[in-house]
Amino acid sequence: MAKGRKNGLYNGVSEELSALMRTGWADTERHGLEPDEQAPYAARRRAALSARFPGERLVIPSGNLKTRSNDDTYPFRAYSGYVHMTGDQARDGALVLEPRADGGHDAYCYQLPRDGRDTDEFWIGYTAELWMGRRRTLAESEVVLGLACRDVRTIAEDLAAGSAVPTRIVRGIDPALEAAVTTDEERDAELDGTLSDLRLVKDEWEIGEMRKAVDSTVRGFTDCVGELSRAVASSERWIEGTFFRRARLEGNHVGYGSICAAGEHATIMHWTDNDGPVRPGELLLLDAGVETHSLYTADVTRTLPISGTFSPVQRQVYDAVYEAQEAGMAAVKPGAPYRAFHEASQRHLAARLVEWGFIEGPVDRAYELGLQRRFTMAGTGHMLGLDVHDCAQARTEEYVDGVLEPGMVLTVEPGLYFQPDDLTVPEEWRGIGVRIEDDLLVTGDGHENLSAGLPRSSADVEAWMARFAG
Ligand code: GLY
Ligand code: MN
Ligand code: MN
Repeated sequence: MAKGRKNGLYNGVSEELSALMRTGWADTERHGLEPDEQAPYAARRRAALSARFPGERLVIPSGNLKTRSNDDTYPFRAYSGYVHMTGDQARDGALVLEPRADGGHDAYCYQLPRDGRDTDEFWIGYTAELWMGRRRTLAESEVVLGLACRDVRTIAEDLAAGSAVPTRIVRGIDPALEAAVTTDEERDAELDGTLSDLRLVKDEWEIGEMRKAVDSTVRGFTDCVGELSRAVASSERWIEGTFFRRARLEGNHVGYGSICAAGEHATIMHWTDNDGPVRPGELLLLDAGVETHSLYTADVTRTLPISGTFSPVQRQVYDAVYEAQEAGMAAVKPGAPYRAFHEASQRHLAARLVEWGFIEGPVDRAYELGLQRRFTMAGTGHMLGLDVHDCAQARTEEYVDGVLEPGMVLTVEPGLYFQPDDLTVPEEWRGIGVRIEDDLLVTGDGHENLSAGLPRSSADVEAWMARFAG
């Protein structure tokens, strides 16, 4: 009798039960599947990757479940480099590009196939389909992904067989797979960096997904405004739950932990506890993004007067941030240095802070010394895509020291944050935090604001709230 898990209520499996479980199942092979519409795009992305590493074997794992406690796990999210190169989201898999003599590569997607019904694996254990849900067969995956698929249970053997081939693996995703290959840490980091570089410019299919993510997010923000009075009666949790419902209904999830920050919580950049009160007269800073089924995420922020209208000080701060965002967005166009939007926004905010007497001028000096950062805190934006902070490992000369190109998607998100205990500003400014964040697509002659469906100016925000606030 096979032994069960520690403190499980069953001691094991009798041979009779095992035999019973193996019989009486219908053939559920899926026929007539169509290739995923992303498949040809993923093939082009692999060709671009292949061209960067002739003669080398590349291993790009999808990742594994991470333990929360005992046999409980965190929700799985595949490594973005794997998703981008395959269009697949399965766990325990890997893409392997095997070098060919002509300098190109053959691609193999290693997957955990369906469990046969001739062993106990399909109903007992970590990967059992009866507990975890049906997977695709390798044949099904080949059709859907348009990619040769192999059984991941033989990957270590396959990699050992060609161990003389110079190999790179993306580290930090699948420790067992990492242990199966001998590679150099620096060269591996270059592979990760190249996978980030190749995501800087989105293809047409990805741009379509970004539009879906942002459009859902716009609906999620409208939902939250419609629920404001319930949030006032409850807490920030109501806002978080309201946005999450939209994310789950229309997408896969939220692309990052929603920031539902009312009152002085708006001054905390990574406020995700979302357990505070929502009080009329204060501001609600909502920073949230829907992640599509294909795992592309939006990242949008609006700062809303909970009572429907801004107080004079709130409006003064809000309008300064709005103008800074306008200045930043005007700098988003092809050929512009990436940093230009950040510099334009920060300079504007530095000028306002000098004018208000919160930092010492002249403005050029204040900006060069970065004095505005006491109140602006963060950089003014970042690339956006499969990850909220997308392309994070890209080469600096391609990203922050590079120039904007059509197809890039980035956020422009200036903010001002006056901490509740900041004695350098008048009392009525303390505890005010404002950020306005939009998602911009660089086009052939400028940019398109993908999140333009939400109001931005203080007057438009008030008009929108008067229409939708519940
Ligand atoms: N929500 C994270 C960010 O705005 O960068
Ligand atoms: Mn954000
Ligand atoms: Mn952002």
